[in-house]
Amino acid sequence: MAEPASVSTAAAPTQGAAATAPAIHTVDLSKWFGHTIALAGLSMTVPRGEVFGFLGPNGAGKTTSVKLLLGLIKPTSGEAWLLGERIGDLRTRRRIGYMPELFRYQAWLSAREVLALHCELAPLPRSTWKEEISTALDTVGLSDRAGDRVATFSKGMQQRLGLAAALLGKPELVFLDEPTSALDPVGRHDVREIIRELSERGTAVFLNSHLLSEVEQVCDRVAVVDHGRVIAAGTMDELLSGTAVRVRVGGLDDGEKSKLAAFGPRDDEGEHLTFTKLDIERVPELVSAIVALGGRVYEVAPRHQTLEDRFLQLLHEDT
Ligand SMILES: Nc1ncnc2c1ncn2[C@@H]1O[C@H](COP(=O)(O)OP(=O)(O)OP(=O)(O)O)[C@@H](O)[C@H]1O
Ligand SMILES: [Mg+2]
Repeated sequence: MAEPASVSTAAAPTQGAAATAPAIHTVDLSKWFGHTIALAGLSMTVPRGEVFGFLGPNGAGKTTSVKLLLGLIKPTSGEAWLLGERIGDLRTRRRIGYMPELFRYQAWLSAREVLALHCELAPLPRSTWKEEISTALDTVGLSDRAGDRVATFSKGMQQRLGLAAALLGKPELVFLDEPTSALDPVGRHDVREIIRELSERGTAVFLNSHLLSEVEQVCDRVAVVDHGRVIAAGTMDELLSGTAVRVRVGGLDDGEKSKLAAFGPRDDEGEHLTFTKLDIERVPELVSAIVALGGRVYEVAPRHQTLEDRFLQLLHEDT
């Protein structure tokens, strides 16, 4: 079995510390489906108010993790707490919002009625429903469609409705499983803004995604999961390791190029050399070295590593 990987370590929440307990704390959480391991020893802590990105390719274990944390499926082993309470605690669920990956709402109800149903299921005090519903509709940009039936909604509008349902009751922790899969660029931008506002008011957000640019823009910390294991975790700065520098160069043969080994690993595409791990401060030194070898430099282009570069690199290393 794969080695468990820790995202960060913290003591298990103690009883009575629920108000200050982390939003999420898991210890060695694992899930097998028959002979398939969906999650292999997840240990992590997400503090209050943090936007945490959970990244991974299809089948990596992202949705399984969310379902385990919400108590929708039971772990094979391990333990976890949400807001200081053990997973599965019904009263804690009222303090949590959830937007599922596969959403389908009652086609015959209006948007307002769907949200009223969620208020009733939560349950929220009836006196708060009207305001909760209108705030949620306003936040996701559906106020002008409040009385229309879901059957008349586009897929993106239905996804917005799902997000509205997750926001009802001012949750302290929100799970969003691929929340923008059906949204256009404007919708994706709106969701990023909503996530930022949630975080500002102290709500922690657990965001499952494979949209790397989205995660890069909005998350405080991320974990990359593959085959049920966390293969990297940290802040964006910790995860993205420096700069790559691409140089267009002429007049160097392979023997001369090999004398540039001191500048770290490089990809050689003929006239383009890319130094994949070079500190930007060393660029002048590199140019001098190329010139000293008799080469001519036509172009130097530093490129910050993107989350996508890093993600692909990590998955490549993991196979
Ligand atoms: N109910 C189930 N029964 C059997 N296997 C399952 C079940 N749910 C998930 N799995 C398996 O667990 C693994 C993880 O699935 P999961 O849905 O968590 O992936 P994911 O990271 O959310 O992927 P995606 O990006 O496609 O949504 C996969 O191998 C999947 O086939
Ligand atoms: Mg999924």
